[in-house]
Amino acid sequence: MTTDRTLPTSFVWGAAASAFQVEGAAREDGRSESIWDRFCATPGKVRNGDDGEVACDFYHRYPADVALMKELGLDAFRFSVAWPRIVPQGRGAVNEAGLDFYDRLVDELLGAGIEPYVTLYHWDLPQVLEDAGGWVVRETAEAFVEYTEAVAGRLGDRVTNWITQNEPRVAAWLGYGLGIHAPGRRDVAEMLAAGHHILLSHGLAAAVLRRDVPGARVAIAIDLNPADPATDSEADRAAARAADGENNRWFLDPIFRAEYPADALERFAPAAPPVRDGDMATIAAPIDVLCVNYYTRRVVRAAEGGFADVYQGDSPHTDIGWEIVPDTLRELLVRLRDEYAPASISITENGAAFEDIRLHDGQVKDPERQAYIADHIAAVERAVEAGVPVEGYFVWSLLDNFEWAEGYRRRFGIVYVDYPTLERVPKTSFHWYRDYIAEHRRVAVAGGR
Ligand code: FCB
Repeated sequence: MTTDRTLPTSFVWGAAASAFQVEGAAREDGRSESIWDRFCATPGKVRNGDDGEVACDFYHRYPADVALMKELGLDAFRFSVAWPRIVPQGRGAVNEAGLDFYDRLVDELLGAGIEPYVTLYHWDLPQVLEDAGGWVVRETAEAFVEYTEAVAGRLGDRVTNWITQNEPRVAAWLGYGLGIHAPGRRDVAEMLAAGHHILLSHGLAAAVLRRDVPGARVAIAIDLNPADPATDSEADRAAARAADGENNRWFLDPIFRAEYPADALERFAPAAPPVRDGDMATIAAPIDVLCVNYYTRRVVRAAEGGFADVYQGDSPHTDIGWEIVPDTLRELLVRLRDEYAPASISITENGAAFEDIRLHDGQVKDPERQAYIADHIAAVERAVEAGVPVEGYFVWSLLDNFEWAEGYRRRFGIVYVDYPTLERVPKTSFHWYRDYIAEHRRVAVAGGR
C-alpha cells in the first residue's frame, strides 16, 4: 500500500458524526424537541419524510460503534452534543440525564484510546429557543453560553478539544435564508442576524471554555467552498470573488480580522448583520485550531444578482451531485495559511456520498469513496509539504446517517447501516482506512517523524 511520506507521527486520524444525524432516542431521558424534529415533521421538507427518531440508534449502540472505531485505529472521534438533551427548556434547568449520556460516551472513547472532539452545536437548536426567535435574536447566543457552561462543567475534566459551532454558514444561510434546512425561514436580514449571532455565540463560548477548562483547545468548524471563475473573463472573476465573499470570507474575516468583508456587506445592503460594540472583538478572540470542512468547490459565472453556478459536466461527481476536486483542498489550505495564518488547521469533515449496495455475500464495496478519501488525504499531504500546519483529518462519516434535507438516502459512511435492522457493515473503504492509518503510523515511526 502506498502511504504518505510527510505527515508527522502526531497527525490525528479521525472520523466525525453529529448528534441529530446518528443518535435517535429522540424522546428519551428528558430530551426536548429540536428544530430538526419540527422540520422533519413538516410535510415536504425532508426527502421521504425521514426523521431523527431512531437514526442509527447510536444513543444505545455507542459501545459497539466505539469498538468499530478502535478496530479502525482512530486517534479521535468528533461528535456533537445535543443541546435539547442538556437544557431542554432552552434556558434554566440542566438535565443531568442528558449529560450522563455524553459522560458515558467520553469514557467509552477514552477507554478505547480515542480522543473525544466535542462539537457544541451541530444544528439541533431546542425548538423552544426557535419559538423565542431562534438565532435571529441575540438572546440565543446568551442561552448558548449557559449551555456551554453545563457541558464544559461536566466533560471539561476529560475533553481537551472543543469545537463551538459547526458550519455557521449552512446553519444561517440554508436555515434562515434559503429555507432548505431547519428552521426553514427565508429572509436575508434574518439570515444575516442568525449568522452574526452564531459567530457571536462562538466567541462567547470560547471565553467560557478558556475560563472553565484549563488547557482547552478551542476551535470553530467552517465549511469552505472555494469559488473558481468559469472563464478567465473579468466578469467571471468578479463573480467568483463575490461568491467567495458571501460564503467564505464572510466567516473567515470576522474570525481572523474582526470585520465582515466590505464587498459582501455592500452586496447584502440594505440588509446588514446586527453588530453591537465589542461583538467583532469577541468573535475574533484567538482560536487554537481552525477546523475546515471541505467537500467540493463551485464554479461560477457572472449573472444577474452577482453569480450563478456552472455545472462541470466533464468532472466526476458524488451521488449528492458535488464535484470531486481534491486539489482544490490543497489550494484552499495554502490560501488559508497565506491570507489568515491560523495557528493550526484540522480537516474536521471530508467524505463522499455514493449509492452503496449490499452484495449477496453481505459486503459493501465502495471503491469510489475510498478513492475520494485517498485523493483528499494526498491533497492534505501536499499542503503540509508546502508548509501548511494541518494537524488532523476526520472522515465524514463513520456511519451512514441522516443527511439533513436529503434524509437517509445519501450514504456518507465508511460503515454501512442497514436501517431496518440497524446492523453495521464496514465497507471496503473502512478496511482501507484502517490499513492506511496503520501503515502511516509504521512509516512515520520508522522514519522518526
Ligand atoms: C456538512 C455537515 C454534516 C454532513 C456533511 C455531508 O455540511 O456538517 O453534518 O451533513 O455536510
